[in-house]
Amino acid sequence: MNHPIRLAFIGAGNMSSAMIGGLCKSEDSPFVIGLSSRTKEKCEPFRSAGVTVFDTNTEALAWADMIVLGIKPQQYADVLTEFRDSGFDGRKVFVSIAAGISTDAVCRMLGRDVPVVRAMPNTPMLLGLGSTAVSRNASVTDEEYETSRKIFSASGMVIDLPEDKMNAVIAATGSSPAYLYLIIKAIYDEARAQGVDAPTLLDGICQMTAGAAQMIRDSGDDPETLIRKVCSPGGTTERAMQVLYDEDLPGILSRAMQACTVRAEELGAKYQ
Ligand SMILES: NC(=O)c1ccc[n+]([C@@H]2O[C@H](COP(=O)([O-])OP(=O)(O)OC[C@H]3O[C@@H](n4cnc5c(N)ncnc54)[C@H](OP(=O)(O)O)[C@@H]3O)[C@@H](O)[C@H]2O)c1
Repeated sequence: MNHPIRLAFIGAGNMSSAMIGGLCKSEDSPFVIGLSSRTKEKCEPFRSAGVTVFDTNTEALAWADMIVLGIKPQQYADVLTEFRDSGFDGRKVFVSIAAGISTDAVCRMLGRDVPVVRAMPNTPMLLGLGSTAVSRNASVTDEEYETSRKIFSASGMVIDLPEDKMNAVIAATGSSPAYLYLIIKAIYDEARAQGVDAPTLLDGICQMTAGAAQMIRDSGDDPETLIRKVCSPGGTTERAMQVLYDEDLPGILSRAMQACTVRAEELGAKYQ
């Protein structure tokens, strides 16, 4: 690919903003960035960061080497039909971040076989702490794939996966921040119900969550070993963990994750 690579975002929403923000901060970004979105005023703040704002999606497409579809799944058909009808030429890599939509479906909506990278980011990407699962169809070259990974590694880390695992990974890294928010909220609410109250309580619970995750990454111990290390025999944590196992917290999470994957498959089926 010629450098710099022209990377156009379609849609100026949460995810595009996070990716553009990460790339603008990155010192070794290979991209120049373009943007087109439905509500033009939302593009204005990006101009001052050096982003080229286009009046139409098809102008952005014509300019770009790579196109990130930062739009909702229900907006795909309209935007990709517009692209198909524009009769675009030249090699262009499409990057899709929508839950459930396969690379085949993107090609079908575009009416031709194109290189498609399929990614599943998450909202911590807004803070540069994203975990993005990335896959590709057979048309994407190794060089194009490496380049596309940089869109996401500028805002966090990347997990490489085959495409047939992209629905299942949503439950692990895409929607799972919500599961942790619920656990954090439940701990906070119960602490307050037991009379623990301090302006820094929620902050402290967040610090505990970040610290626990860092222990898994840095201590060299797996989660089960770390659980054993907190559970002194006959102690308080052991008593609490007994309740969590008796009430089948692992099973509840498994069932929630299975429901998430089924929903991704349902959403994807609409676009087959
Ligand atoms: N949010 C998450 O946690 C998350 C996680 C992983 C993946 N995703 C995926 O990321 C994608 C974007 O999500 P998001 O949360 O960033 O959505 P969002 O904030 O709603 O952003 C969508 C953007 O697309 C624009 N748009 C809509 N129709 C358009 C069109 N025809 N042409 C050009 N722009 C158009 C919208 O414009 P308006 O301002 O006019 O509405 C908006 O700026 C979705 O496919 C979602 O499934 C999201």
